[in-house]
Amino acid sequence: MKIKTVKDMNLVNKRCLVRVDFNVPVKDGVITDDTRIRSALPTLNYILSQEGSSLIVMSHLGRPKGEVKSEFSLSVVRERLQKLLGTKVIMAEDCIGNKIVKLTKDLNPGEVLLLENLRFHSEETKNDPEFAKKLAQNGDIFINDAFGTAHRAHASTEGVTKFLPSAGGFLIEKEVAFFEPLVTNPAKPFVAIIGGAKVSSKISVLESLLKNCTTLIIGGGMAYTFLKAKGLNVGNSLIEDDFIDVAKKLIKDASDRGVEILLPVDHLAAAEFSSDAEVITINSEMIPDGLIGMDIGPKTLESYNDVIAKAKSLVWNGPLGVFEFNNFAKGTLGVAQLVAECRGITVVGGGDSVAAVNKFGYADKIDHVSTGGGASLEYLEGKELPGIAALK
Ligand code: 3PG
Repeated sequence: MKIKTVKDMNLVNKRCLVRVDFNVPVKDGVITDDTRIRSALPTLNYILSQEGSSLIVMSHLGRPKGEVKSEFSLSVVRERLQKLLGTKVIMAEDCIGNKIVKLTKDLNPGEVLLLENLRFHSEETKNDPEFAKKLAQNGDIFINDAFGTAHRAHASTEGVTKFLPSAGGFLIEKEVAFFEPLVTNPAKPFVAIIGGAKVSSKISVLESLLKNCTTLIIGGGMAYTFLKAKGLNVGNSLIEDDFIDVAKKLIKDASDRGVEILLPVDHLAAAEFSSDAEVITINSEMIPDGLIGMDIGPKTLESYNDVIAKAKSLVWNGPLGVFEFNNFAKGTLGVAQLVAECRGITVVGGGDSVAAVNKFGYADKIDHVSTGGGASLEYLEGKELPGIAALK
């Protein structure tokens, strides 16, 4: 998919309005992971390097649902952005209105203005055209670098492109460059590792991946629904009964297409869902009554060795077990290590698996760690992301 990028635009003497995804995790008023801010820097710095240009940055933070709530103020981002850019960042009290437009027009070349949370206005998520028009008054040109929000057709991602010359930033360009081949023409063997708690939230991506992948590794909580669909006892593990038939169909479709599905062949289980629960190793596909599957077992991890090592392209979304509990993090840690060692093209997307590769220190050994959670999943589902489609 060819999109216009920031390099195709003449930015000289322009007020550049940039949509970024600074929806970063914040705990007690402190940013706990600034990856999304760092990922926007190439675009922001490039714009600032253009003669006479000024930068107006806009984003959402959290889901304040159209209300001004101080805990969702982007002022928490201002200082970090200022530090990372190495230049002063002026904080605006809103994102639209005459006062804000005046601020953007008063900016000197090289100055940076950060607009307040777009979602303090309910019109943002409704993609209200009047609101998009007002946002557009804050710039002469629009650059979208918010990959993480590209699956939302909102005023600041889609609506605004109708009122300003628009292009994508370097982050969007990079994300597309890694995801597009995975849904069109992946290098084979193509291995997809899909984990996470629920079949219901991953079924579309599983169905879509079946069309292209060589091996589908299914782990995490959703694996138990698949095991049950195969007629195996899974004790008290998480099961989505409504999805047993769906799982059966997926297993059949995979076999019809010659796609290998790898389900756990052993487990780490516990009698209760708690971080300090005793770890019980179950040396079989079946889990006895009274026990809950919490992680893949050592034999399962070993069965991935060869498959992952031989992959020419690989995507991973979702943890293999309850990795936030140290006792049940081995499967996810082991997979992170195998993915890091894989010599094919490796892409990791989705909040939890990205958190896992960061936690275990493998992020710099992965070819692409996506900034998109929902966006990367929808991309893999083969959906057109409205924020990107608008830049074509
Ligand atoms: C994300 O974190 O996935 C994006 O910032 C989008 O946020 P949303 O799910 O609240 O639209």
